[in-house]
Amino acid sequence: MHYGADYNPEQWPDEVWPEDVARMREAGVTMVSLGIFAWARIQPSEHEFDFDWLDRVIGLLHEGGIAVDLATATASPPPWATVAYPEMLAADEHGSPYWHGSRQHYAPSSPAYRSLAAALVRRIAERYAGHPAVVLWHVNNEYGCHLDVDYSDAARDAFRTWLTNRYGSVDAVNAAWGTMFWSQRYGSFAEIFPPRHAPYSHNPGQLLDYRRFTSDMFLECYRMERDIIRAAGAVQPITTNFMGAFKPADYARWAAELDVLSDDLYPDPNDPEGFREGAFHGDLMRSLKPGTPWLLMEQATNAVNWRPTNAPKAPGQLAAQSMQAVARGADGILFFQWRQSRAGAEKFHSAMLPHAGTETRTWREVMSLGGDLGRLPDLPADDGAARVALLFDWENWWAIENPDHPTSLDYLSLVRGWYDAVHRLHVQVDILPPTADLAHYTAVVAPHLYLLTEPAAANLVDFVEQGGHLLVTAFSDVVDEYDRFRAGGFGTQLRDLLGVVIEDFGALADTGSAGPGEQRAPVAGPGVAFVGSILAEEAHAVDARVLARFEGGRQDGRPALTVRSHGAGSAYYLATVPDDDGARQVLDHLFTAAGVEPVYPGLPPLVEAIRRGPLLTLINHGREPVHIDVQGEDALGGGEVRGVVLRPFGYALVLISSLEATEPCPPAVPGSR
Ligand code: GAL
Repeated sequence: MHYGADYNPEQWPDEVWPEDVARMREAGVTMVSLGIFAWARIQPSEHEFDFDWLDRVIGLLHEGGIAVDLATATASPPPWATVAYPEMLAADEHGSPYWHGSRQHYAPSSPAYRSLAAALVRRIAERYAGHPAVVLWHVNNEYGCHLDVDYSDAARDAFRTWLTNRYGSVDAVNAAWGTMFWSQRYGSFAEIFPPRHAPYSHNPGQLLDYRRFTSDMFLECYRMERDIIRAAGAVQPITTNFMGAFKPADYARWAAELDVLSDDLYPDPNDPEGFREGAFHGDLMRSLKPGTPWLLMEQATNAVNWRPTNAPKAPGQLAAQSMQAVARGADGILFFQWRQSRAGAEKFHSAMLPHAGTETRTWREVMSLGGDLGRLPDLPADDGAARVALLFDWENWWAIENPDHPTSLDYLSLVRGWYDAVHRLHVQVDILPPTADLAHYTAVVAPHLYLLTEPAAANLVDFVEQGGHLLVTAFSDVVDEYDRFRAGGFGTQLRDLLGVVIEDFGALADTGSAGPGEQRAPVAGPGVAFVGSILAEEAHAVDARVLARFEGGRQDGRPALTVRSHGAGSAYYLATVPDDDGARQVLDHLFTAAGVEPVYPGLPPLVEAIRRGPLLTLINHGREPVHIDVQGEDALGGGEVRGVVLRPFGYALVLISSLEATEPCPPAVPGSR
């Protein structure tokens, strides 16, 4: 289990470094991420490299027994680079550049950027590939953070190449995008531009491809650096830090390219439901690379600096959120950052070692968490405890949020609505792409798969035929992978499976809006009563049993929730977006059919329970102490457990079967204790 933080010694005089190492040892730190924003310090000008300071820092850390996650430092090019090569600046949709003076202002497709980055990474990798302190490589930092989409000339040129590789001919692009519409036909690739500022709606096929292209450009940068590191002879695992479900980068495609996944997580301490975001991140990381432990690479020890108001964490919240990650397969807990900065935009951001020093609650909590992590036994990565899968798809995310739809949908928040509903029921869940192997699951929740490919649809049909229980929700199976209707319109892939025909998507007025129109769609049936919003589809049950109907309003009497048995399984359809209690009621139907059980019985609402092999983690996110009747052995070495009292943010780590029963996995990162 690794413990540590981003370490930015370049912000401090040399005399501070030995004190840093001593304090790190005190806190139980085992690994630091070094040099993430140190490009300007390592390479003060194009032909000048200074590794002396980095040699000394790595040497000090090594002497202190602290391992290094060595960064490639390419996330923030120095001013000399963008002055010499202004074409490497990213640009907004007006073509206006993002200047230096902040960070992450480079165009990922820029040949100038890539060539400078490659030269830097080569020097770093050649120098440190064999250094015994280096146990992990940290490529770039949070690819795409702050730069959702780049519209620069570099992107324009690269987009044309990308399209040529994807489609082969400009006619194929025209066909995919449907450019006979509005006279958009292209005569050559040279006529195609990024979807820059325009008077009205862009072509949706172009927008979707531009998202694919953007994700691919960042991935190409990652691959370039990874390959340079390997070519230098490095054998350590390589990672780059993810940000949970992050729209610009299709992590489901990226995951296979990383040896170890790592994630950055910053839930708002003010949000009493914020812990579900941590749960969602952790379940996503575990699911993206099954069977491989991951690292919580960044979180805050206390407040951040970048929200309108930056609340401190409550006492205990830091450890509770860290244990959420361990419970879900993390083999390392790290922070941004080790020592709080004296200057710069993040000087108010908390750190392991705060400005106020070691006589602080932050430091005490940092020490105590380090102690607990150090006492944990080796743990397996994941023994496939989840029987429920929630489907989540980046391409669908990009397509469903294109403009000019019946209504605007926030895909992530809709998926999170379903995730949170599952989480409230204390049911363990994996988060998977729609083409994933579903054989292991008994229930699948598939919210709003607007863009549904043929292989994904076949996968869902097969899942139900094999005895699985599937929930599909409104505005699904609408378009193909080019964001076009198929011949026959929408609903072509799942109509037979669901036994439901949709005639219209029935957009409702925004909840809480002052304008005219229905905002709510009450739904009722035997044992079912809730309120839908956003969409109330005009659905016809042609071969399905109706479990609940819309009551009143435009769709009065029409099916809202249906089920159809198929093969050994069943397929549910929900023609609206339910409120929280509605989601619970729908899941009750699905989970009863599928025989899904909570991770642990009888838990209070704000206690979460997660299985990781033999380890049962119980965490109280509520403000009241609770007693849980659980038996086993304390994983932190406290002996036999016969019931636990969890104070607010308290946790219990209980081995509920003998550890010998499960082989611990090899460590994600060598040098873990
Ligand atoms: C992350 C970033 C870190 C730091 C942190 C602050 O996005 O990777 O370098 O800026 O946010 O919360």
